[in-house]
Amino acid sequence: MSSLLIRNIKTLVQAENQPRQVVKGADMATLPVVHDAFILIENDRIAAFGPMSGCPERADTVLDASGRMVFPSWCDSHTHIVFAASREEEFVDRIRGLTYEEIARRGGGILNSARRLQEVSEEHLFDNAWQRLQEVIGYGTGAIEIKSGYGLSLESELKMLRVIRRLKETSPIPVKATFLGAHAVPAEYRDRRNEYIALIIHKMLPRVAGEGLADYCDVFCDKGFFTPEETEQILKAGWRYGLKPKIHANELGYTGGVQVGVANHAISVDHLEYTGDAEIAVLTKSDTLPTLLPSCAFFLGIPYAPARKMMDAGLPVVLATDYNPGSSPSGKMPFVIALACIKMKMLPEEAINAATVNGAKAMELEAGYGSIAVGKMANLFISAPIPSLAYLPYAFGSNIVETVVLRGKVWEPPSRQ
Ligand code: NIG
Ligand code: FE
Repeated sequence: MSSLLIRNIKTLVQAENQPRQVVKGADMATLPVVHDAFILIENDRIAAFGPMSGCPERADTVLDASGRMVFPSWCDSHTHIVFAASREEEFVDRIRGLTYEEIARRGGGILNSARRLQEVSEEHLFDNAWQRLQEVIGYGTGAIEIKSGYGLSLESELKMLRVIRRLKETSPIPVKATFLGAHAVPAEYRDRRNEYIALIIHKMLPRVAGEGLADYCDVFCDKGFFTPEETEQILKAGWRYGLKPKIHANELGYTGGVQVGVANHAISVDHLEYTGDAEIAVLTKSDTLPTLLPSCAFFLGIPYAPARKMMDAGLPVVLATDYNPGSSPSGKMPFVIALACIKMKMLPEEAINAATVNGAKAMELEAGYGSIAVGKMANLFISAPIPSLAYLPYAFGSNIVETVVLRGKVWEPPSRQ
């Protein structure tokens, strides 16, 4: 057995005696903390924590965290980190006045990424995604979901999902895989979109499920992409193979995406920049989690999702990065938390609950991740010296993640490996 003791912690954040599965509504403003604390880790698990008065005398490794806070690792439940190339030409096109949808209609956007992905090897994709994974671990992420969806053909979707499987097998943090064959209709199917949907249902899903390559099934249900009726067809087919839905909805308009996600028992409906009273009413009667991606709204200059309204209605908000080359080329969870506070008027405590306990729930990892609790996996980070919890979103440009601990061991950034 090996043990790691962190002592003199200024504040131990999200420290739960009774772990919560999910945090909703008004409860989101409550974040359990212990001041002047210790945490003891044995092997890869959290063994004990509490005030310094009860601190054990010794351990194999002892770290002093004076002036620093300890947080559970972020749980980033929505990313697309497997991609072949960045898309800064489209970023400049948008600066010049084109919209995301106009670029997509011209064959750019997701179709651009799909063309690039078809040209590169699985090895190249893996190496690049691995670098991104290391990057986000350095920002404090300790569990992640990754989507396919830049393949858009049987072979290329399988290629992406095999890369995700390899990341799952080699990553120091848990990875959940989502099949997103219905990310866009490929150009060659533009006039026969039903054939593409049939390909997803009859060829892709059986292979993906047969090879155990995905945990979830996603559809980009939105204006110019897939309709609610098409989405339902695909989600029902996914369920037949045991793949639960986690979908993209209401990013570009009031399109019925939230309603179709809830009706099909989605784990989460993600984006929700266009959410009104009808969507909120449907969500409050369901277990489907609303996942908000404020760095996408920031980058595309679209409205932010009404997080405050959702929490006031009693909903459990989730925050994630949406790291992808088109709408959120950043996997930095601390920036997402800062945006949630600055732009969506979430309190720091609410944003941290959304990025930890609720993020874990949106990946069905709540039993082992998302908080500091005895028996949970010791994935956490020690901050730089900071004056208060609110300093994290306030100092939005500073890197406050100083030491990352994964599975009970101090993680070495790649430059030092
Ligand atoms: O979550 N909205 C759909 N999919 C991604 C963007 C994909 C892209 O532009 O490459 C998203 O924003
Ligand atoms: Fe996305």
